[in-house]
Amino acid sequence: EEQVDPTGKTFPRLKNDLILRAARGEVTERVPVWVMRQAGRYLPEFRKVREEHDFFKVVRTPELATKVTLQPIDRYDGLLDAAIIFSDILVVPQALGLVVEMVPGKGPSLPNPLASPEDMKRLKQKVNVHKELQYVFDAVTMTRHALEGRVPLIGFTGAPWTQMAYMVEGGGSRTFSKAKTWIFQYPKESHELLQRITDVSVDYLVAQVHAGAQMLQIFDSWAGELGPNEFEKFSLPYLIQIARRVKAELGSEKAVPMIVFAKGAWFALDKLSDPSSGFDVVSLDWSHTPAGAKAVSRGRVTLQGNLDPTVLLGGEDAIVEATVKMVRGFFGGKKYIANLGHGILPDVSVDAMEVFLKTVHRVGREVAAE
Ligand code: CP3
Repeated sequence: EEQVDPTGKTFPRLKNDLILRAARGEVTERVPVWVMRQAGRYLPEFRKVREEHDFFKVVRTPELATKVTLQPIDRYDGLLDAAIIFSDILVVPQALGLVVEMVPGKGPSLPNPLASPEDMKRLKQKVNVHKELQYVFDAVTMTRHALEGRVPLIGFTGAPWTQMAYMVEGGGSRTFSKAKTWIFQYPKESHELLQRITDVSVDYLVAQVHAGAQMLQIFDSWAGELGPNEFEKFSLPYLIQIARRVKAELGSEKAVPMIVFAKGAWFALDKLSDPSSGFDVVSLDWSHTPAGAKAVSRGRVTLQGNLDPTVLLGGEDAIVEATVKMVRGFFGGKKYIANLGHGILPDVSVDAMEVFLKTVHRVGREVAAE
């Protein structure tokens, strides 16, 4: 059985739309659940693919990206309510013309970062996402077919501030002193860079939806490195711009739910929850209690999260206890998607992940029936 997306593409009919309904604020019969980085190194079948192929080779080969995206869906058959396309936020700096490598044991590395605003000249002036990132769109379309409608497919990108941090730092950082030097010393040029990343991100997300993505998440992993004042100037306006422009370009027929994950930016929950921001779901890190987050957010958006990922290292009893408390705290019949508060760690066991997912299902059904 097939369905025609509002974008005109034909795909297998979606059999589980729980997460889309939760994102739209509808009542659900249980709590939907997925996990950031659910396709990753904690899975032996993922490590096997990585033994044979470089990280960006997997990302750039639609057959491999599709295979890896489906790994957690197959292993945890019926327990995950969404797939997220296997890719990385750093494909956008690549599209802008920078070299990004994945160094084993270290993480992403940009050998020629933007040392000063002068270096912005090295960036491509006009980025055609269909030329630079077509492999992502092909992977999205291929994955939609391979999923056979089991669960919706999430597309994603990195937030402009987080992208800028990588482009300026050349990799991860403890203090983010280089990127923060930019915002304090070169605010005008920083805004220019953030705007250029924003423009590419809008085209990139819109094209992912046209390729078949049914929901979108924006990862602002380094949001909390900015204080409230700086977040409001250098991150929030661009997040809002992306949500509004993506929705305007798609129009109400084709628009999909949008999730924002601003890690560490607890101070931004009120503003991100405002419908004028354009987001349907706010993803929380583990610095929030359910009651505290609900008091600030006041039912204006769906909340997603937020188990401390290291709880999954604590054994079955610890996982069940923390998960029950979280689901009971957040879920009032609707407007909640269970997830971790950040990506799953590589040293988590596949069984610990299963305990987490099964506990969300059990408690999520109980609470919905109460
Ligand atoms: O969630 C998924 O399953 C989809 C895949 C996905 C990856 N990266 C694959 C990946 C997603 C959504 C991302 C997003 C991403 N990438 C973020 C935002 C989310 C977050 O965790 O904060 C960031 C900051 C990056 C940049 C990045 N890529 C880092 C910092 C690292 C190294 C750290 C690590 O976990 O290894 C990566 C590498 C990376 N991206 C891996 C995977 C599975 C592991 C690398 C490997 O296989 O060797």
